[in-house]
Amino acid sequence: MPGSTPETPINCDVDFDSSNVAGKTAVVTGGANGLGEAYVRALHAAKANVFIGDMNQEDGGKLASELTGTQFIKCDVTKWEDQLRLFQEAEAKAGKIHYVVANAGIASNDDVFSFDGPDSTPTEPRLNIIDVNMRGVLYTVKLAMHYFIKLNGKTPSPSQVDTCLILIGSGAAFLDVPRGPQYSGTKWGIRGVMHSLRRTAHFYGSRVNMLSPWYGTLTPSLTPHDPNWSRYVRTKILTEASFDHVENCGVQMATTQDAGQALLRLLSDTSINGRSLFISPRKWAPRGYLDLNVDEYPGNDLVEEIQADQLRSAPVDLRLFIEKGSKYTMQR
Ligand SMILES: NC(=O)c1ccc[n+]([C@@H]2O[C@H](COP(=O)([O-])OP(=O)(O)OC[C@H]3O[C@@H](n4cnc5c(N)ncnc54)[C@H](O)[C@@H]3O)[C@@H](O)[C@H]2O)c1
Repeated sequence: MPGSTPETPINCDVDFDSSNVAGKTAVVTGGANGLGEAYVRALHAAKANVFIGDMNQEDGGKLASELTGTQFIKCDVTKWEDQLRLFQEAEAKAGKIHYVVANAGIASNDDVFSFDGPDSTPTEPRLNIIDVNMRGVLYTVKLAMHYFIKLNGKTPSPSQVDTCLILIGSGAAFLDVPRGPQYSGTKWGIRGVMHSLRRTAHFYGSRVNMLSPWYGTLTPSLTPHDPNWSRYVRTKILTEASFDHVENCGVQMATTQDAGQALLRLLSDTSINGRSLFISPRKWAPRGYLDLNVDEYPGNDLVEEIQADQLRSAPVDLRLFIEKGSKYTMQR
């Protein structure tokens, strides 16, 4: 596939050298807490300059003052002006933006999956999860591409520097998760965004990859049989009671520290494009992340043929932007 890596799973059981990350500039949305904080810490440990964009000024500010060289910019990802300011300030201060982690995301009760009662008029559902997890991410995508293209131009050349957009999925991006159509829809949708971008990102010297976390905790090395199991510090995406319930069902958690390493694994290997890593409990992966290899359809000749037809009317060789009025454009 042009611009993409071969269809073999990424080996996640190896040591890697992340020295290429040193000195780079990263923007992390939702970086004040939880998994976002872990990405910020991993990037900082690898000597990158990090800009945290988050609504939570208190936690974001604290983290930024703890990690020298890290800066916090208040940002609600659902607001275009906020995200624009985040990227503008990051570029103004650092000069270049190399990595973007579109991490901010929420999960909550899903109004779409609710029944108002046989005698009630159905109420309009709140689409707040779509707003953060999809609208917010698409704003981030637009801005990441803008600054990557600004940095590297639109024509591949050896002088382009590596840039990488990391999208955040979830187990809900490829599993059946009942009773949460908005959350699942957004996370499956993020896979669609990645699949759409990965064929053309190389024109502007970029890569686009995904991390799909399992339930996450901030404390490594305990098992469900450990008496301290219930003292895990969890991320804040679910309530304590929800996490308790998941743990009590015997579900083993992934750790946010492993998520940070998975991020560095993707950033350190500049040949990886269009792939997803699953942030996993250690029982499924020795380092807490692995490539489940669900991004391709290896051996499925029919899907490959259909894919070729999909590209026939708008080939990747046409590069980034198809001119309006061209026979290849599908716009009115
Ligand atoms: N923790 C998990 O179990 C899990 C599993 C799968 C996927 N994920 C994904 O990982 C990402 C982070 O999850 P987490 O568990 O660390 O969540 P968290 O709630 O612990 O942290 C999320 C951070 O995002 C910020 N945020 C929320 N809405 C925002 C907005 N509109 N604008 C800016 N910042 C905003 C919050 O202030 C917080 O700092 C999400 O995209 C989530 O869907 C998490």
